[in-house]
Amino acid sequence: MDIQQFIDHLPKAELHLHIEGTFEPDLMFQLAERNGIDLPYADVASLHAAYDFNELQDFLDIYYQGMNVLRTEQDFYDLTWAYLEKVAKQSVRHVEIFFDPQGHLERGIAFETALNGIYSALQAGKQNHGISFGLIMCFLRHLPEDDALTTLELAMPYRDRIIGVGLDSSERGNPPSRFERVFAKAREAGFRIVAHAGEEGPPEYIYQALDLLKVERVDHGNSSLQDSALVKRLVDEQMPLTVCPLSNTRLCVVDAMQNHPLPQMLEAGLMVTVNSDDPAYFGGYLNENFHAISDLLDNDPNTLAELARNSFQAAFLPQELKNNLIQEVNNYLAEQQNN
Ligand code: ADE
Ligand code: ZN
Repeated sequence: MDIQQFIDHLPKAELHLHIEGTFEPDLMFQLAERNGIDLPYADVASLHAAYDFNELQDFLDIYYQGMNVLRTEQDFYDLTWAYLEKVAKQSVRHVEIFFDPQGHLERGIAFETALNGIYSALQAGKQNHGISFGLIMCFLRHLPEDDALTTLELAMPYRDRIIGVGLDSSERGNPPSRFERVFAKAREAGFRIVAHAGEEGPPEYIYQALDLLKVERVDHGNSSLQDSALVKRLVDEQMPLTVCPLSNTRLCVVDAMQNHPLPQMLEAGLMVTVNSDDPAYFGGYLNENFHAISDLLDNDPNTLAELARNSFQAAFLPQELKNNLIQEVNNYLAEQQNN
């Protein structure tokens, strides 16, 4: 079996993706020109050269600068559509994507401008490519909780279009405990709950995400491995972790791919999924993330299929739909193993 091809055609879901992190340099230059914006880089190559990060904050500075080019509903549509066209070719069946409304509001871009553009493209992706979707709004944790509360109010009329809320941006020094009230309100309003925790932050932040925010998935969760009691709890609860291999190496959360803890996580019984985070900045979309960790998993199709099954099991979808998608994975695996 050609394992590369096996990965490429394996049905899968993406559960940790920032749509603003799919902004490829060529599209960024195109939209900058359309909007009459001067980018502080001469060309695509020099922009690319700036993608050299030692930690999360290095990346975030460039990520917020990049999203400044997004101005109109059409820009958000084009961004999202470009992503969906890519993953349609990667056997991605379902996506749950993040957007950062506060990153746009603070630049004077209306909540609806971002929401309508992203949402219309997601609908077109479902119609044209059969990719089902959920949209998750993230609160920026480097800003005060009051800003998050204002943003949640803006989202209330669009409860039918936004499936959940999350927490992202600079983790160190911004613990989940700062956002307890806004997450309680979001839960009350029926939003599903996720949060970035344990990317650069300590295990304590993962405990807080579980106990104070009451997350249903942990985004990243790498630092859980430093605390065996926490690992046991995550295993017992089968709490999904949305792990992002290329992101982890590019942001130096993990020093090299051969040392990525994904095999240990699986070995421990954690419910892990593979995701791309900010693919335009980290060198690959979902299949490239699977390729990156395949060697570490002995290129075992059973393990790769397990990760794909987990991605559907951890999705915010009705159990019946999850079962159908998991069955697709099982059928594909059996078919490939019989060839
Ligand atoms: N925003 C976009 N990508 C992020 C990441 N990996 N961690 C925290 N915030 C983010
Ligand atoms: Zn992320």
